[in-house]
Amino acid sequence: MWDISTLDTVASTQETVRARLREDPHMPEGTGVRAIVQTGGRGRHGRVWDSQDGDLTFSFLLRPARPVAEWGSLALLAGVALAQAARQDTLCLKWPNDALLGGRKCAGILCEIEEDALIVGLGVNCMPVAEGGDRASLHGQWVAPALMDAFLRQFAPLYERWTQAGFAQVKPLWMHYAHAPGTPVSVKQGPQSISGFFEGVGDDGSLLFKDEKGVIKSLTAGELTVG
Ligand code: BTN
Repeated sequence: MWDISTLDTVASTQETVRARLREDPHMPEGTGVRAIVQTGGRGRHGRVWDSQDGDLTFSFLLRPARPVAEWGSLALLAGVALAQAARQDTLCLKWPNDALLGGRKCAGILCEIEEDALIVGLGVNCMPVAEGGDRASLHGQWVAPALMDAFLRQFAPLYERWTQAGFAQVKPLWMHYAHAPGTPVSVKQGPQSISGFFEGVGDDGSLLFKDEKGVIKSLTAGELTVG
């Protein structure tokens, strides 16, 4: 199902796929772009996504057959595919879209709805990162093109399962790579930050968060900090 072209330098693979979709509204599912160098990468909440030559940066188009209300869970699905592909014992998924190694972020996933389609973008650090910083890397384990191929091989059957039966079918796999239920976390929503515990995720991919009074809430947005 995949047709990912490689470009030398782009500002953002996410924007390149978006521009291609606008030019060709029938752009097929599974087509996308990998950049060898991405100069203007974006993350969630309008943040900058920094990468260097040799990191993995790519985006692809999906046309999910399930209701749009369920599309948010595809970020979690992509996390599972990345964890399965990377085969790192210590890799941990943090809701909704981060992959961590040793508590530091090694990858981020960005899912954006565009018209009746979804653009999925992945950034994975494959080159060395500064020691003592907040980033981790798969340097020495993976090179970008091989990791992308491994990811896509894992993503395809998971997506098929999601299409047939929804995220509930994939949830146990996500939980396998997630923090243990009961882990202390805080969730920032706008200016407000609340402390509590990670309980898991719902069948729709929402965060199940237990507050300090023991009340479990289902959250669809927010910034999770562990510890
Ligand atoms: C995040 O952690 O907030 C998500 C980061 C997503 C970065 C990727 S790199 C490929 C694609 N192009 C972008 O501009 N962003 C995504």
